[in-house]
Amino acid sequence: MSGGPRLVVENLVAGYVRGLPVVHGVSIEVDRGEIVTLIGPNGAGKSTLLKAIAGLIATEGGRVWVDGRDVTALPTHRVVSSGIGFVPQTGNVFTTLTVHENLKAGAHVIHGSLDERLERAYALFAPLAARRALRARALSGGERQMLAIARALMTDPTLLMLDEPTAGLAPRMVEDVFRQLRGLAETGIAVLMVEQNARAALSVSDRGYVLAEGRNRFAGPAHALLDEPRVAEAFLGGRR
Ligand SMILES: Nc1ncnc2c1ncn2[C@@H]1O[C@H](COP(=O)(O)OP(=O)(O)OP(=O)(O)O)[C@@H](O)[C@H]1O
Ligand SMILES: [Mg+2]
Repeated sequence: MSGGPRLVVENLVAGYVRGLPVVHGVSIEVDRGEIVTLIGPNGAGKSTLLKAIAGLIATEGGRVWVDGRDVTALPTHRVVSSGIGFVPQTGNVFTTLTVHENLKAGAHVIHGSLDERLERAYALFAPLAARRALRARALSGGERQMLAIARALMTDPTLLMLDEPTAGLAPRMVEDVFRQLRGLAETGIAVLMVEQNARAALSVSDRGYVLAEGRNRFAGPAHALLDEPRVAEAFLGGRR
């Protein structure tokens, strides 16, 4: 534990082909208890940035610290044990497994106290408790997203990263997901999410970053970004 921000990303360079980065030196920070939203056009490198932080793809430059610990270029399982939980954009649950099996799979890197974690997940997400024997493919979109989040929480992350957690959800479900994230942040978890529902996401966030062409474009308190005409026009679908 350190006094600094929970997540510090400094000048991160990453991509899929060595020498051809799509993230060109991005810097972001997330504090404990904060919700930070990353927005930007399609192809801006938002998902790539999260994958690089999570250790799923190689980085070519820059540094990532979690609670003051350098996790740059650690293999994914080591990144997970450093406290990062990641809910990817797609394929974030095993559709052929039950809710219960998905949660157990989420805790595979953890030793001991599984029952306690399962009960905690069901207490936090009551609809999942009622559906624990159901296969994930039978869940609604909102329930599936809930399961993906619950699954990522099984490792007790101090930083939860989510890639478009509300994609494809009905507006009421979008609010539910954001309310859950708010609740998690209130327990001290740092939340970093990428969102296309930019306006709604910023409304529940503390701070935000706009990424364009793999670079930082704007950053600031969420309300300031919502009120910034250059951000609203180019990245939030016009003025309010
Ligand atoms: N697996 C991959 N292999 C090669 N290139 C990829 C891969 N995934 C993404 N890219 C490329 O990297 C760039 C950034 O993509 P990325 O998925 O990070 O964007 P994004 O900001 O998340 O966009 P979106 O809003 O559409 O999700 C794009 O040019 C994309 O084509
Ligand atoms: Mg993406």
